[in-house]
Amino acid sequence: MRIPLSFKGQSVFVAGGSSGINLGIATAFAQAGANVAIASRNAERVAQAVDQLRQHGTHIEGYSADVRDAPGIAAALQQARDAIGPFDVLVSGAAGNFLAPALGMSANGFKTVVDIDLNGTFHVLRAGFEHLRRPGASVINISAPQAFNPTKLQAHVCAAKAGVDMLTRVLAMEWGPEGVRVNSIVPGPIGDTEGIRRLAPTPEALQRMTQSVPLQRMGRVEEIADMALFLASQHAAFVTGAIMAVDGGSSLAGGRDYGASL
Ligand code: COA
Ligand code: NAP
Repeated sequence: MRIPLSFKGQSVFVAGGSSGINLGIATAFAQAGANVAIASRNAERVAQAVDQLRQHGTHIEGYSADVRDAPGIAAALQQARDAIGPFDVLVSGAAGNFLAPALGMSANGFKTVVDIDLNGTFHVLRAGFEHLRRPGASVINISAPQAFNPTKLQAHVCAAKAGVDMLTRVLAMEWGPEGVRVNSIVPGPIGDTEGIRRLAPTPEALQRMTQSVPLQRMGRVEEIADMALFLASQHAAFVTGAIMAVDGGSSLAGGRDYGASL
């Protein structure tokens, strides 16, 4: 049961919003009455997501853009602002992942994930700031437990997401005086997502991962979306620079070895 928050008439931009957790967040805002713009690389997936989001009856726009391309994502943000107005909420959730030991990834493999997750978030926030409704807007970065749990086969993601959480904290300090709050959501393992298909590619790995969660289950996309709605709402008006875990307690378990569960 979703907390009955209304975002009627508000504008929301979700970078990486064409699938999975980010599409779930975009959906929750559209269901709560917001006009929503999404952007990701694959034009076909963007078009499908836009069709799906339009069922909720608000103004929906979609753009094909790569967050690694600073001018490209800046153009998408500008077009979205022109279409749905200054953003009340800006979500940065585009990410890439694969399992590989540090010695099994090339310089470009490491760089690719850092470019998408960390540099991409900087590009979205740097260009997005001028399109925020100020004061009162809220930025939400989608982090991961790898930001603070050292995790074998995830050197690239650990480094990138730790950087994302530090960006959250620094920008919360820089943008607080402008009336803009900046927070991270740290999803635990969320069922039926591309992230989990990559990290737990076999039924056995999935079972072990589930058992490692103190609450003994995978999370649901809607549970991450609920945190996004809360963080963007007036109920969180004094919350900024927070790293909010929504993970069934899984971040309490310390370091991880996904390779051990393959
Ligand atoms: N092991 C080691 N290196 C890998 C790899 C793997 N499983 N998969 C990709 N790489 C390397 C490639 O070899 C390449 O390096 P190289 O040029 O030295 O060979 C580099 O990563 C970039 O790969 P490429 O396929 O060109 O990148 P891309 O920009 O098309 O795609 C990825 C980015 C690799 C992150 C891709 O998996 C992706 O698009 N992911 C998005 C979806 C996703 O990951 N969702 C889960 C989010 S948690
Ligand atoms: P997903 O469905 O693969 O979502 C990633 C999204 O980012 C896709 O819409 C993808 O669309 C987009 N994207 C990827 N690279 C991009 C780029 N360079 N530029 C623009 N868009 C790009 O994966 P997910 O599992 O739902 O993950 C969503 C977020 O949650 C990520 O930030 C991830 O790190 C985080 N997370 C997930 C889990 C989990 O359990 N799944 C746990 C912790 C954190 P295109 O391919 O069209 O670009």
